[in-house]
Amino acid sequence: MENSRAPAASGGRNRNARRGKSGAFPQQNRSNHSTAVASEAPKMAPRVATPPLTEPVPLDTPRFADLAKESLLDPVVLKTIIEDMKFDHMTPVQAATIHQLLKERDTDVLAQAKTGTGKTVAFLLPAIQSMLNRKRQPGQFVSLLVISPTRELALQIANEAQKLLGRRPEYSVCTAIGGTNQNTEERKIIKGCDILIGTPGRLLDHFTNNERNSHAIQAKLQRVDTLVLDEADRLLDMGFLPSLKNIIAVLPKREVSERQSMLFSATVPQYVDKVAHFALNKGYKYISTIPEGELNTHERVPQSLIVVPTFSDMAAALAGALRQELAHVGPESFKAIVFAPTAALVDFYVEVLKSIPGLPTPMALHSRASQSKRTKTTDEFRKAKTGLLIATDVIARGMDFPAVTNVFQAGIPADKESYVHRLGRTARAGAEGRGTFIVASAEAFFPKYTLKDIEFVESTPNLEARADVQQIAQKLEPEVQNKAYQAWLGFYKTFMKSLRWDAETLVSEANKLALDGLGAPEVPTLYKSTVGKMGLRGTRGLVVGPDPMKAPRGGGGRGGGGGRPSGGGGGGGYGGESGGGKRQRR
Ligand code: CDP
Ligand code: MG
Repeated sequence: MENSRAPAASGGRNRNARRGKSGAFPQQNRSNHSTAVASEAPKMAPRVATPPLTEPVPLDTPRFADLAKESLLDPVVLKTIIEDMKFDHMTPVQAATIHQLLKERDTDVLAQAKTGTGKTVAFLLPAIQSMLNRKRQPGQFVSLLVISPTRELALQIANEAQKLLGRRPEYSVCTAIGGTNQNTEERKIIKGCDILIGTPGRLLDHFTNNERNSHAIQAKLQRVDTLVLDEADRLLDMGFLPSLKNIIAVLPKREVSERQSMLFSATVPQYVDKVAHFALNKGYKYISTIPEGELNTHERVPQSLIVVPTFSDMAAALAGALRQELAHVGPESFKAIVFAPTAALVDFYVEVLKSIPGLPTPMALHSRASQSKRTKTTDEFRKAKTGLLIATDVIARGMDFPAVTNVFQAGIPADKESYVHRLGRTARAGAEGRGTFIVASAEAFFPKYTLKDIEFVESTPNLEARADVQQIAQKLEPEVQNKAYQAWLGFYKTFMKSLRWDAETLVSEANKLALDGLGAPEVPTLYKSTVGKMGLRGTRGLVVGPDPMKAPRGGGGRGGGGGRPSGGGGGGGYGGESGGGKRQRR
């Protein structure tokens, strides 16, 4: 994996030298924990008492209370952590970073730790402490700026920050995310906001849109003490990097105003070496609690692999696997997330699965829905004891839904990192979890090569629901079938090379899926412009219709047994949101 990587040119850091040896929640062997920083962390006596359920942390990490001994942490915040949030011991990543970040304010940190191991508190706590250390009047300036790749994650981090400041209500936390009222956000930020958490697109809009109050907002940012990039590798990938650079350009130069930057993620692929310097200063520390050579999925998560003969069997196999896991886990606690490659496929699976008897009612979550719907669904699923959420990668990263027992992936993810993050929605905070990865035989390259280090337990697909699925699919709105068809084409087009397909094979597979799997009565018609955008012009097997007329509404459809051209629908594209290199803003 990453262990053979050469030391990064920037900052002269050497990953391997700084890599810690302890697992995310190691049950033993903590004595050889050799993260440079953690060895400086306060030592504490082992505890004998049984920890409360909310605290799944091994007993040999330092306690939050130990931070008081060195007067590193505000006693009021400490009280909040211990008495209100009921945290006693730190998680390994918290042990490895909090002390370091509090003590060495002039050193930036890139931290890697497994999913669900407490990275949020690991960056929020030192950042809040820096804010308090400044002794500025609350509301004067933004002290902490956190950037998140998704809106849902931004809201979740804001919620966590609010909890930490539960006994310090004079400090305020604001969010800046897309899909919400920008004026309201703007007013709040200008009125007084100590912690600002947002997504790159909306933040940039606030900072640089001169027709709005961007000058007033920029003025508020001239004293940023801490900059955090959560899910840093995602923010530093091609999709977000340009906005990120522009956001950082708005912040005061480090020579003018001291600032500590923190990058956190469960995955730190190689390209991060080359771009981390956009956010971090020279000589930054790389702290990892993932032992060298170890995979960053949890040992506690059995991962099964189901290979179905064709894409048309995917929905039936998913229904079968859901039923099986529901029986295994028990209906009183079964809480599952199913990841699908695109928004349209999510909608298709929701429509099918809601009519399959014996399954919980599925909810959909993807970026094509309104933000208020997204937030409502997120909150509902967070609170639910049991349930079934079908989603795109919009919630693959960072989301801390409690007690998710199962993660299913129906079809391959965009990349290895996405697999790790999706799976990481279960087995959080020391809990157990199970993973099921369903692929069509054509996609078998992904588990075999891309995820070659993962030990899957292979199981045969349960296709009992095949006839049911077919019947249900045939009754769906043509819109649902057509959109799923088009989205499928768009997503798998980005994998043509790995699939060893040419365009004609791609289309022929899509057509088979439309007829046998999606319930379409005939091959759906695509708009000419959509076919052009997909780079599939002239491919045999496609049914292409004229583009809809722009001005008078109502034209453009070809009718013909539900074969209305699909696509167009605002902004073009194929409706995918986790596909290949074509990352979208979320
Ligand atoms: O960011 P990451 O995926 O590492 O995890 P997170 O979203 O911060 O979630 C960690 C979970 O562990 C949350 O539910 C916390 O309430 C809980 N937790 C913690 O963060 N720190 C502790 N010392 C104990 C529990
Ligand atoms: Mg996180």
